[in-house]
Amino acid sequence: MKLWAGRFSKEVSKTTNDFNSSIRTDSRMYKEDIEGSIAHAAMLGMNGIITPEDADKIINGLKEIEKELTDGSLVIPPDSEDIHTFVEGELTSRIGDAGKRLHTARSRNDQVALDVRLYLRNECKTVREMLTKLIGVLADMGKKYSDAVMSGYTHLQRAQPVTFGHYMLAYAEMFLRDKERLDSAVLRLNRSPLGCGALAGTTYPIDRNKTAELLNMDDVCHNSLDGVSDRDFCIELSSVMSIIMVHLSRFSEEIILWCSHEFKYIELDDAFSTGSSIMPQKKNPDIAELVRGKSGRVFGDNMALLTVMKGIPLAYNKDMQEDKDAVFDSIDSVKACLTAFIPMIETMTVKRENLRAAAASGFINATDCADFLVSKGMPFRDAYKVTGGLVAYCIANSKTFETLTMDEYKNASGLFDDGVYEAVNLENCVTGRTSLGGPSPENVRKEAERVKKINV
Ligand code: ARG
Repeated sequence: MKLWAGRFSKEVSKTTNDFNSSIRTDSRMYKEDIEGSIAHAAMLGMNGIITPEDADKIINGLKEIEKELTDGSLVIPPDSEDIHTFVEGELTSRIGDAGKRLHTARSRNDQVALDVRLYLRNECKTVREMLTKLIGVLADMGKKYSDAVMSGYTHLQRAQPVTFGHYMLAYAEMFLRDKERLDSAVLRLNRSPLGCGALAGTTYPIDRNKTAELLNMDDVCHNSLDGVSDRDFCIELSSVMSIIMVHLSRFSEEIILWCSHEFKYIELDDAFSTGSSIMPQKKNPDIAELVRGKSGRVFGDNMALLTVMKGIPLAYNKDMQEDKDAVFDSIDSVKACLTAFIPMIETMTVKRENLRAAAASGFINATDCADFLVSKGMPFRDAYKVTGGLVAYCIANSKTFETLTMDEYKNASGLFDDGVYEAVNLENCVTGRTSLGGPSPENVRKEAERVKKINV
């Protein structure tokens, strides 16, 4: 039986019911639906809108339903319209008239907006904990590999020396900002639409601040039309999820490159790699690839939400039922990715020798060679040109800055002296990069400590 059956002379068709139903998606919010209803019933009782006895009956009935749904003794029929209808119907079948009073001064429109907010608030906690874990792992690696010299890249061409620890902390910074974004989104999420009614509030003497307080929410939505009809908090959260996925997918791409035979910078643990059904030698970075791939679906969820919400008039429209599939999927995907990604990173082997060996070719100390000439008084632009000539000479003669003789240096510029060998030594190049935020091992260790301290 539908909640709204009174006006209709016959039951809806099965097709309509199946199409209209959102139970597959929203049954996961049963706890939040009940939490919201308990707060609402308590407030109705306090304000004399229903009797305290009815409020008690409702609250106890709801608690029982929650318990049974959680232990599996109560099962939601798959043809239910939605979670709100199911819970109210179940309650009424248990406690009779008191159950029918629960929906006084409330609509499913403010109810669903509340449930989604409460549900997402919990999900944000989980994602936050996972990010904290990941950032902690990266900070530890930052410290451990603070002196593991490697090449940094631009255009995927070897560029300047950094360390593996510095690299890990770059990602730690990104995930720290993701956490900030998550926290900020929760500020706007944690406001109660309960009491906005269908769209125009109510004539009953309700106390919206009370229900917000009972639900641990920071404020109420201050306009009833807005409270029931915006889903910007879903769009915002799925944007936050999308940015997390951008970061995870970039990191994944590096992992995939780094464990290829061409790089061999890292090796993934067997427990986090997969084989091939035909090529016995293969060890594939499937987790990283799948994370990279799932970014597409999370961006899709974000676009779906933007598009669903675009152009619909105030207030509630059924279009908005599509919000949950998209925002839930984006969060589910991020959680699944982090669950697999974190232990994969935590257990990978970093091949310091290979990082160092790759850094030795590719002239990543060319800037340092030019800087040496600058230290001898040559203007940087001229030093750049002289060094460029030396690079060309090295390529033609299979040499590096480390193996050029003093005569060869002197041919390029009389300003060179023995000090140049110190200047182009990769360890020195990295150690000297002490500018704030730079890759010197000392900086990196300090930043790793800072990351750990603020990663709460
Ligand atoms: N299942 C609906 C949703 O998810 C609940 C709100 C229904 N409200 C309505 N007026 N039909 O949006």
